[in-house]
Amino acid sequence: MAEQRDQWNSRTSFILAAVGSAVGLGNVWRFPYVAYESGGGAFLIPYFIALFTAGIPMLILEMGLGQRLRRAAPGAFGSIKKNFQWFGWWAAGLSAGIVIYYSTILSWSWVYLWKSINLSWGTNAEGYFFNEVLQRSAGPGDIGFPIWYLVVGMALTWGSIYLILRKGVRNVSKVVMVTVPLPIILLAVLLIRGLTLPGAMDGIRYYLTPDFAKLADPGIWLRAYGQIFFSLSLASGVMIGYGSFLGKKSEITNSALITGLANCGTSFFAGFAVFSMLGYLAQVQGLPVPEVTASGTGLAFVAYPTAIIELPALNVLFALIFFVTLLFLGIDSAFALQEAFTTGFYDKWKISHEKLARYFVIIAFFMSLIFTTRAGYYWFDIVDKWICDFGLVVVGLVQCIIVGYIYNVQEFRQYLNGISEVHLGNWWVIALRYLTPLVLLTILIVNLYNEISSTYEGYPRWATTAAGWGTLLLFAALGYFLWRKPENK
Ligand code: TRP
Repeated sequence: MAEQRDQWNSRTSFILAAVGSAVGLGNVWRFPYVAYESGGGAFLIPYFIALFTAGIPMLILEMGLGQRLRRAAPGAFGSIKKNFQWFGWWAAGLSAGIVIYYSTILSWSWVYLWKSINLSWGTNAEGYFFNEVLQRSAGPGDIGFPIWYLVVGMALTWGSIYLILRKGVRNVSKVVMVTVPLPIILLAVLLIRGLTLPGAMDGIRYYLTPDFAKLADPGIWLRAYGQIFFSLSLASGVMIGYGSFLGKKSEITNSALITGLANCGTSFFAGFAVFSMLGYLAQVQGLPVPEVTASGTGLAFVAYPTAIIELPALNVLFALIFFVTLLFLGIDSAFALQEAFTTGFYDKWKISHEKLARYFVIIAFFMSLIFTTRAGYYWFDIVDKWICDFGLVVVGLVQCIIVGYIYNVQEFRQYLNGISEVHLGNWWVIALRYLTPLVLLTILIVNLYNEISSTYEGYPRWATTAAGWGTLLLFAALGYFLWRKPENK
């Protein structure tokens, strides 16, 4: 059968799409905070070492595997060894899991975009976020009903994803020309505003003052590796799926290098935009900078919006810019995740992109409604923690072992060198066989130990078992089912 597989319009589209999936909210709300807590400027040393010794090698592995085997994760692992298809489905299933909860942040961003018009959060952004917008209940067991405007936010999110993905990769090639550069330009606007405010330099001093003593702490090195894996969107099948839409002769290694550097450069740059604003906020409120710093949702929906309220002029404009930035940062990560999963169905059963996009979006919309309820925040938090701290780490580890020991990795290296601009030395094989698995195994053990010694955020065990371990098991079961279901001939 002649293969009609979709292809990227150009190499630029492929690289932009890969950068778009990697550059996400994590670059803005995770990296700057991790850097600030882990030695400031000195953190850049373990961070870049992690990038070159594990991040880029793994990125090359994923993009290369997709390109060579011309399949998303399930088919790619299935063609290494039949039974590995199950693992591929599990990895791709986790990416479906991520997009279903990731959509929550986009839904909040839509709501805040609307609220920006009259800056509704006022001076008590924290109370506003948790009590008025999320109407957060007392605990994960107290669920209640979906909150209508969060449901509207979800509908807008899934609607956008459907429109982008229904025409397949050719359309994605065009969309990423906007969704990738735009948020970076808007971040630059926020950065310039930030830097010209009083107190900005104090903030930046907190962000970057190097504390070399911290480098002696192995925990800092693990954080650097963890941040690199998360930030490059590794171990979720996304880069394999995207690689599978490359042409037969497409270059891999240099594209991976560019993707990695562009992503980490954006993180470093976003840190200035975040910390200049936090420095200003600290000055206005007469507090030391550490008192106003936050990461995750606390930064995006509390600290940064508070700083915007305090701006001398054009507050509404900057609020709009900020939430548009969040939406654009998130959307290309979201559709990359969905595509990584649905391409598995295309590969196996040749279902059309339009149908896959439509069915997935409808089912995912209903599943994501749990996150729009009054307990939604807790469920979001637990699922996120378990998928990132356990699911992705296990996938990364197994992937290294499969490719490093079972697939003929030296021959794979020759293959990649034959098509690529930058030639891979033996270091690449060493990174995949020894260093990366060792680091991932250590991260896994540390995470498990932490979870056993005290439950995450003090959530009740039943909730972390159901939402955390339950999600991981659910996708393993789904993966098993999809693996056993025969192909159409
Ligand atoms: N890299 C994304 C960020 O920094 C988050 C992420 C992790 C992700 N794994 C992913 C995004 C897989 C898309 C696909 O925000």
